[in-house]
Amino acid sequence: MPGIVFASWNRNKYLEMSSLLAPAGVELLFGPDLSGAGEVPEVDEDRDTYAGNAVTKALAWSSALGRPALADDSGLEVSFLNWGPGVMSARVAPDDAARVQWLLGKMEGISERRARFVAALALFFPERGIWLLAEGFCYGSISVEPSGGHGFGYDPLFVPNGYNETLAVLGPTVKSRISHRSVAARALCRMLTGGCVVE
Ligand code: IMP
Repeated sequence: MPGIVFASWNRNKYLEMSSLLAPAGVELLFGPDLSGAGEVPEVDEDRDTYAGNAVTKALAWSSALGRPALADDSGLEVSFLNWGPGVMSARVAPDDAARVQWLLGKMEGISERRARFVAALALFFPERGIWLLAEGFCYGSISVEPSGGHGFGYDPLFVPNGYNETLAVLGPTVKSRISHRSVAARALCRMLTGGCVVE
């Protein structure tokens, strides 16, 4: 399989995705390490679906670098907030600590606390113009107070179903098994090893 560029400036995300896709024999390349990365246009993540944002990013990197490209997009959906903030998850406040406070404020005194993380992956093979799309979910609930030091984003407030602690307490080993991104990555691996490999 040709080297696939990961369409992100975030090295931690790249390292996580590399290990999730290794079982399918994918050689993932970190976009910013490649010559031509300076040509990648700024991508506004302003679509109303995760898949739309992931497709937009994959296309931008693939076009600039002339290679297959993989992009992701993700968010948190909360039942009581009409399944928001969703694709707006990163935009409700300027940083992770402020996002946690924003969500705590919205959920004060609310007993309906079901939630889920969602991730979309879009992989584009430009020579054949073929897209592979995968989505993954991680179901759980919003805790009444933050706990734990691992992870990022809303992890200190998210208790996955079947556990009594937040993702930020449970840490990377559990998260890499059950997270929305790992579920989506496993689906993509099945496509790549199950006959959808196109180049
Ligand atoms: P993006 O996919 O990097 O654009 O993520 C969007 C936002 O969703 C992040 O800024 C986080 O606030 C939230 N988010 C996505 N995945 C996770 C996760 O695994 N843990 C905690 N927050 C997440």
